[in-house]
Amino acid sequence: MRRKTRSCCFPSCRPPAGRRGLAALLALALLVLSGCGGGKEDSLRIGAALYTQDDTFISAMAQDLEGLVREAESETGKKITLFIADGKSSQNTQMDQVDRFLARGCDVLFVNLVDRTAAAVIADKAEAEGVPLVFFNRQPVAEDIQRWDGIYYVGADARESGELQGKLVLEAWQADRETLDRNGDGILQYVMLEGEPGHQDSLLRTEYSIKAVTDGGVEVEKLANETANWNRAQAAARTAQWLEEFGEGIEVIFSNNDDMALGAIDALADTPQSRWPLIVGVDATAPALEAVAAGQLYGTVHNDGRGQAQAMIDLALALWNGEDPAVELTDGHYVWLPYRQVTLENLGEFLER
Ligand code: GAL
Ligand code: CA
Repeated sequence: MRRKTRSCCFPSCRPPAGRRGLAALLALALLVLSGCGGGKEDSLRIGAALYTQDDTFISAMAQDLEGLVREAESETGKKITLFIADGKSSQNTQMDQVDRFLARGCDVLFVNLVDRTAAAVIADKAEAEGVPLVFFNRQPVAEDIQRWDGIYYVGADARESGELQGKLVLEAWQADRETLDRNGDGILQYVMLEGEPGHQDSLLRTEYSIKAVTDGGVEVEKLANETANWNRAQAAARTAQWLEEFGEGIEVIFSNNDDMALGAIDALADTPQSRWPLIVGVDATAPALEAVAAGQLYGTVHNDGRGQAQAMIDLALALWNGEDPAVELTDGHYVWLPYRQVTLENLGEFLER
């Protein structure tokens, strides 16, 4: 990778232009004292900014980060300090948190943007301090990622999750059309629970799930779609309205994530129905896997949060050590983790994790 020529403590050793004179003197003094330009080589400080901790998938990722940092410490013998900040869905709050991380001398930043369009401002702050920046889960546009070679994105391809979700439904329809096509018209009537507006996962999962079904030769009819902002309670409220409006006319409920699929299940559990529609989600969170086991959720698509957390830590360690990371980098900036389908058939593999 491109950054490997850096010295062992490079991120905090590269001062912003305005401070170069003083920083050069300091660096020289530290070089003399420690032999390693800053003496930080035994302690890596990571600042992780979450868009909100009140999100099932993101809070699980935060736990993974904490656990994996401890593992990395014992494997490498280096001290790693992970600071986690909850942006509480406010981009202003997150900006302050990023400023604080930089002021504290963090060596690497992990940023889960509240607002994807704020990426450029954060990228410029990190570049000015020479601190590598790893965006995750909420993908900035390519121009923002390419602003500086110290910017990375770790995530999963939203389009792939949509396609895999759509294929789950397509295969279920092909295998048992008589049961799924409740009104026997040969058309799949569905509703779509969407994540936050403007989020890459909402847009692409919504589009590509349906495309996979129609590409498979099945005609579809959208009864309704609405955002429930990734949120279980909001999804339960939307679904309750739809059940009132369409009754048993809903054949499939597509949900952009598992929490909203669980919200749909909550609404169904509260509404007398002779048969439930087929429901699919994305993430494979622990409660969603339970719902698959219970036969309430037909399937989901595993969003590998732990794999993403591991890649971020590997990247941080490598950048800090000035080494090649053990992760595969696409276009010098991206680490992609694959999605996988989950149904009752392979559920065991995911429950073991
Ligand atoms: C998605 C995930 C959602 C939600 C969202 C937050 O990848 O499927 O459940 O966590 O990220 O950005
Ligand atoms: Ca039908």
